[in-house]
Amino acid sequence: MQALTREKTSTVGYSFAARMSRIATSAVREILKVTEQPNIISFAGGLPAPELFPVKALAEAQARCFDENGPAAMQYSTTEGWMPLRGWIAGHLRTLGIETEPGRVLITSGSQQAIDLVAKIFLDPGDTVLVENPSYLAALQAFGAYEANIIGVECDSGGMRVDLLEKVLAEHKPKLIYTVPEFQNPTGTTLSSDRRDHLIELSCRYQIPILEDDPYGELRYAGERTPPLAARDKQGLVIYVSTFSKTVSPGIRIGWVSASPEVFRELVIAKQASDLHTSSMLQHALAKMLETFDYKGHVNHLCAVYGERRGAMLQALEASFPAGSKWAQSEGGMFVWAELPDGIRAEELLQRALAVDVAFVPGAPFFVDSARHNCLRLNFSNRPPDDIYEGIGRIGRLLK
Ligand SMILES: Cc1ncc(COP(=O)(O)O)c(C=O)c1O
Repeated sequence: MQALTREKTSTVGYSFAARMSRIATSAVREILKVTEQPNIISFAGGLPAPELFPVKALAEAQARCFDENGPAAMQYSTTEGWMPLRGWIAGHLRTLGIETEPGRVLITSGSQQAIDLVAKIFLDPGDTVLVENPSYLAALQAFGAYEANIIGVECDSGGMRVDLLEKVLAEHKPKLIYTVPEFQNPTGTTLSSDRRDHLIELSCRYQIPILEDDPYGELRYAGERTPPLAARDKQGLVIYVSTFSKTVSPGIRIGWVSASPEVFRELVIAKQASDLHTSSMLQHALAKMLETFDYKGHVNHLCAVYGERRGAMLQALEASFPAGSKWAQSEGGMFVWAELPDGIRAEELLQRALAVDVAFVPGAPFFVDSARHNCLRLNFSNRPPDDIYEGIGRIGRLLK
């Protein structure tokens, strides 16, 4: 990854650490600033639908925590996290076939922190990390912050081209492989079962840990779930990261990582130095809520609503985008990744789209190298179908 230069905004001669020049500002967060105005139909962020947040259930659970033992919820607590919540997560992971226990589940401040901590414990400056190309932007930022050498592995409609990996592994000897196997961000692809087995086999053969990032796995609207990498791992090489951000609320900032005892210990030490622990109050409230909340029913409802929105987005694209455009029919998650006919630059299209009050994220920043400029990422979870038809229709008219 190239060092970056950023604009100077003061006359002070700050001497920032070299690592800061390795972190690109997030194009998504920058665009989100523009799209906060209510009149904009935004397909830019990875935002869940706010009307589906379980506001009442969490508020009631929080009130019960305060009634029963307010001071405990307001006190400092252990770095590992609140045991009842770790217990719920371990039970949940076992339903996915992942052999874990509460003692190996670390609660983190969003899964973003889990990614950062994993990078922190494995990556020295110059170490190589393999990622899907394109990949999740904020993971690239985290790896950049540890001055890693980020290498993108080509992807197709079945996710990472694991068949290309052997050569890359032998050549680059990476310290870590990062993957989002289920409804990848930004492309929405799912890694096939055969590729998962092959990836595990390679990870064992070369003894390279895999960071499996799975924020979207529960948001499936079609097809069957295939077991995660962590469920196939017999050696403790897969570090499994997920979050309540997409199923309960991103604002509570509660994610988790499940890892082997050895990796878990290092992660706890790294988290101590980072933020001591994730908010006790929100961990208590969430654990209390999950005691009685119909979580499965809630996720089924999310899937029904998001599935309809995904359908609306696919239909709107079909009706509005010009011949020569392509998009993936992802079975879940929150995004559709579209490719425009050659020669159309998504960055220019965005400027015109903003002028008609529509936003999306151009695809180029998600690429590690050889960025493609005719791609765009469209989020469908945050808007009702009518807005989706309207917004995609406006982009389609610009394209025509
Ligand atoms: C692939 C992926 N990983 C991790 C995250 C971070 O989620 P959070 O920190 O809210 O748990 C996101 C958020 O969009 C994501 O898309």
